[in-house]
Amino acid sequence: IEKPQSRSIDRLFTTSRHLLEGERVQGARCKVKGVRGSGVRHPSKQHRTKKTLPTAPPSALPHPPDTNTQTRTNKHTHTKLHTNAHLNIHAMEKRTTGRLETLKEKMYNKETKSQTKFCSVYPLLPVVFRIPLPTRIATSCNPHFELISSIVVSVSKRPSCSPYPTRYPLPATNLHMQAIVFDPKTNNFGLQEIPKPKPGKDDVLVKVEACALNPIDFKIAYFKDMIPATANNYVAGLDVSGTIVEVGDAVEDWKTGDRVLYHGDLQRGMGGLAEFAVHKSATLLRHPAVNADDAAATPCAGWTAYRCLVDKLRVNEDDVLVISGASGGVGGFAVQLANILGVKTIVGICSAKNIPYVMSLGATHVIDYKSQDVGKEIMAITDGKGASKVLDAVGGKSCEDLIQVMGFDAELVSIVQPVNISADKNPVFGGHSFHHLGLGAAHGSGPQHEARLAEVGKQVTQYLADGKLRSCLTKVIGLKDVPSALQQMMAQRTVGKVVVSMSQNPSKKHYKK
Ligand SMILES: NC(=O)c1ccc[n+]([C@@H]2O[C@H](COP(=O)([O-])OP(=O)(O)OC[C@H]3O[C@@H](n4cnc5c(N)ncnc54)[C@H](OP(=O)(O)O)[C@@H]3O)[C@@H](O)[C@H]2O)c1
Repeated sequence: IEKPQSRSIDRLFTTSRHLLEGERVQGARCKVKGVRGSGVRHPSKQHRTKKTLPTAPPSALPHPPDTNTQTRTNKHTHTKLHTNAHLNIHAMEKRTTGRLETLKEKMYNKETKSQTKFCSVYPLLPVVFRIPLPTRIATSCNPHFELISSIVVSVSKRPSCSPYPTRYPLPATNLHMQAIVFDPKTNNFGLQEIPKPKPGKDDVLVKVEACALNPIDFKIAYFKDMIPATANNYVAGLDVSGTIVEVGDAVEDWKTGDRVLYHGDLQRGMGGLAEFAVHKSATLLRHPAVNADDAAATPCAGWTAYRCLVDKLRVNEDDVLVISGASGGVGGFAVQLANILGVKTIVGICSAKNIPYVMSLGATHVIDYKSQDVGKEIMAITDGKGASKVLDAVGGKSCEDLIQVMGFDAELVSIVQPVNISADKNPVFGGHSFHHLGLGAAHGSGPQHEARLAEVGKQVTQYLADGKLRSCLTKVIGLKDVPSALQQMMAQRTVGKVVVSMSQNPSKKHYKK
């Protein structure tokens, strides 16, 4: 726990920690001004307006709140502080379906028989304290919850010292830059002038040359509750190619002027859809000897494809590998990498118009999912045995259909959403295995996972530099075209990779597919 210096914030911080630890805090009163939340206000205001305190969903609350008692007695108890300190665990609560009982039990005030209120708020300003959850809470959360490793208390005043852990928004400089900023209220992206970020001690500041677009960029709208940075000029863009212009105090291996390539950390919001971006130095790669646009097209899609085939499916030459979404970013790299890895039967799935493109990448068979019966075609290709390895880059029904054509002992990896295993009619006797992969989740998951990310990046960029792998680049656009390009990407019709080039700004250049 990092200790801030401002007195009022210190108090909020300490008291919140006590609350988490289940201690009663006598006379605690939060004096930080301007705190706001969704409906829960300062108790004195509740007195005046006679508002009923909002309640959490009944299933999630082990003890029903006694709002009267709370309003009467909370003047000098910690409940009052709770209504001021917005504990942004609502998102977590929604998704862990009742697994937070332990935490809630702790927040139950036995004396006043009142239950702490939970509210979902976004920080007004980038003042974020991260309070590590008690370990047993963290471990009781389901795996999709690894992203939530802290409770965020937000207040409207910036403390005099910087308590920011390096992954969260850093103080900005007085200088400004052009960036595509995500607006969490409208879920839209817009070109804006925002303060140029400053690298933390383990970071580098990169002058962006090119940045690829990925579906995850617009999907931030789904994750925003889990990412505090979305409240503060959140800049998306994970696949960055550029040159270091500033290094943090603790950075040893990199210097100003080094050209780099990296896959960014979604949680930080200082991405590459801007003139300057910040990234932790641990997962930087030396820029491969290819142009910036081609290099930027690779990380998210190419490294994901590599990890799926090598780390998860462990493909071998005898496999019948089925790749859905073969004409998209991940699919395009997967088809090529499967070839490099020696897989003899590569079945791509896409619509008719993209068949020539997928064949050109090296697929041995391509199925048009719109006019053909995918299941029947796969069974025909495999003489009724079914696929031995499946990479699903589409999700939903497409994934469920592919489960039906998995052969004995087959494996499937999903990169879109959790596999609906109940769709498998023969999971045990079929010996089926299911994997999930989240490339960027490696950030902040420990040095060995970050090292693996960089290692995979090195291998894929080596293939690119050696000319064994094409970058799948199909379109280069300028920064101002990003909002409309992301809108189009949501339709799931993108072929290959779209890259934003800072030098192209604002003109458009189309590559031949
Ligand atoms: N977990 C991770 O780490 C990770 C990493 C990267 C990407 N992803 C996710 O993986 C998905 C794919 O990413 P991407 O970058 O490859 O997306 P993308 O480039 O937008 O993929 C679009 C392609 O999907 C094809 N497609 C759409 N519906 C299809 C269907 N029912 N069957 C077969 N193909 C279909 C389209 O081809 P047609 O027009 O021919 O239909 C289009 O070419 C996204 O949801 C993305 O968020 C996850």
